[in-house]
Amino acid sequence: MTIPLPIETERLLIRPFEAGDVDAMAEVYGDPGVMRAGAVVGDIGCGVYAPTGEPELGYTLAAGFWGRGYALEAARACVEAAFASLPQRRLVARVESGNDRSLRLAERLEMRPVETIAIDGRPHVLLALERA
Ligand SMILES: CC(C)(COP(=O)(O)OP(=O)(O)OC[C@H]1O[C@@H](n2cnc3c(N)ncnc32)[C@H](O)[C@@H]1OP(=O)(O)O)[C@@H](O)C(=O)NCCC(=O)NCCS
Repeated sequence: MTIPLPIETERLLIRPFEAGDVDAMAEVYGDPGVMRAGAVVGDIGCGVYAPTGEPELGYTLAAGFWGRGYALEAARACVEAAFASLPQRRLVARVESGNDRSLRLAERLEMRPVETIAIDGRPHVLLALERA
């Protein structure tokens, strides 16, 4: 099952990566704080949480674009599309303990902490959201 793309929100276009995005995403992952109008500014999407097969939300935003609600806007659209397209009734996310921005975003999405799990020996919070 896949989530149909693109998804357009008020300020963002969520589309599959293209070969030409490599440099822009290298900058995002390299944390340069670059700001350009119409730029590729991050990633968002659902993978598969291997232990249960549930959709797992993940996101990364260029540091220069933090604090404007872009990640929340993209994540809300992604969650809505996931529940509209996928059969599962629950969606999860894993956030490293201490990643407060990501935890705040998950809370704003109304995801609830379920348990603490270790990934590569580091504590992470598993959060879940039930379909309404
Ligand atoms: C996690 C991450 C995507 C969050 O980005 P973010 O910009 O903080 O998230 P949001 O889009 O929810 O923005 C929220 C902030 O924007 C502010 N804001 C401004 N305008 C807003 C608007 N129109 N709507 C909503 N919030 C708005 C909020 O008040 C909030 O401010 P705060 O940071 O002072 O609480 C980002 O920090 C990131 O990419 N981190 C590195 C990668 C990472 O950790 N990924 C997650 C792995 S689990």
